[in-house]
Amino acid sequence: MPRILDAAWPAGTTAPPGETELAIDEAAAVLARGGLVAIPTETVYGLAAVAIDPDAVRRIFEAKGRPPRNPLIVHVADIDAARALARSWPQSAERLARRFWPGPLTVVVAKREIVPDVVTAGGDTVAIRCPAHPVARRLLERLGRPLAAPSANVSLSVSPTTARHVAESLGERVELILDAGPCDRGIESTVVDCTTSPPRILRPGPIGRAEVEAAIGEAVVDGGATDAILRSPGLTGRHYAPRAPLELSADAPKRAAELVGMGRRVGLVTTDAAFAGEGRRAGAGQLVVRTLPDDPAGFARELYAALHDLDAAEVDAIVVEMPPHDEAWRAVLDRLRRAAVVSTGSELPTPQTSPATKYREEPWRSRETGT
Ligand code: TXA
Ligand code: MG
Repeated sequence: MPRILDAAWPAGTTAPPGETELAIDEAAAVLARGGLVAIPTETVYGLAAVAIDPDAVRRIFEAKGRPPRNPLIVHVADIDAARALARSWPQSAERLARRFWPGPLTVVVAKREIVPDVVTAGGDTVAIRCPAHPVARRLLERLGRPLAAPSANVSLSVSPTTARHVAESLGERVELILDAGPCDRGIESTVVDCTTSPPRILRPGPIGRAEVEAAIGEAVVDGGATDAILRSPGLTGRHYAPRAPLELSADAPKRAAELVGMGRRVGLVTTDAAFAGEGRRAGAGQLVVRTLPDDPAGFARELYAALHDLDAAEVDAIVVEMPPHDEAWRAVLDRLRRAAVVSTGSELPTPQTSPATKYREEPWRSRETGT
């Protein structure tokens, strides 16, 4: 097992407990000598290395089994640090950073020479965000250098929202984990490509499209799958996926019961409180239920932990209730679609810019790309 240090930072306090301060110092030391540290952010845990140290960054790719053509997000302490990495800093990036940083939003901009090619997968652009988590912020300030950090999980699997998830996924491949408890947001940041006009949402996330548009002052393009495939290989195909095959269903309880009837051990993820409590048996099969909050932020916060738990419970299949076809649920729906093998009982919502047919054509089982 990797070393896990307590890095709790009670909400509302400006200075952390002494133990957390020491843990952050130690993390800074490991990073400074080229090591890997898993750090809490408000979205998911990140696997961090000093971004301007190409050897250290290469270790991230090795640890995750991440394809080298999938670029990383660079984390910075503030807007100035972001500008230092950008060859040009468009007004859209400035407006988004001013409005949402520190926070769960990533901007893609033209990169400067100082950003190693290994970070950007050889590309000319770099994805940058300033995280809101106090531990990540303190670490970035202490270190005085940017941190490349993808989600701290083996490539293509469900992102970690607790230190335990990180340890179970990466084991000894990460030297140190800072444990600050469960992540607030629970899904990865919104990624906005600011190099195009109009800007493009490459990955939906906690900051919604309307908020992005309000901050920039113009309509943005919803990148959807097609464009993301070209600009961002990691944004497509099956990933964020649990071990057990996941189905999205408009009538999840019925579908789960069907599978149980076939003798399967089934994980059901629903917002229906009527299904709360213990799983039940039916014939040889068995049902394990996880009830999530029925608001999009609450659902997002707990979704990955539910999927990790169901994998740990060794279910044969996971059936997830189809979320409402509503803009507020877009990021959650995006992650569920990527995690899913099939979707039954309902048409997937097909917003103009996010062709469902494209998803169906994806080689789901391909392990070629991913994050
Ligand atoms: O919330 C988050 O963003 C988390 C935390 C740790 O900050 N990080 C995260 O990183 O989700 P990762 O590597 O799992 O996902 C980064 C995504 C990938 O899909 C990658 O393809 C895309 O961002 N990306 C990175 N650099 C890019 C670039 N220059 N252009 C387009 N997409 C890029
Ligand atoms: Mg990832």
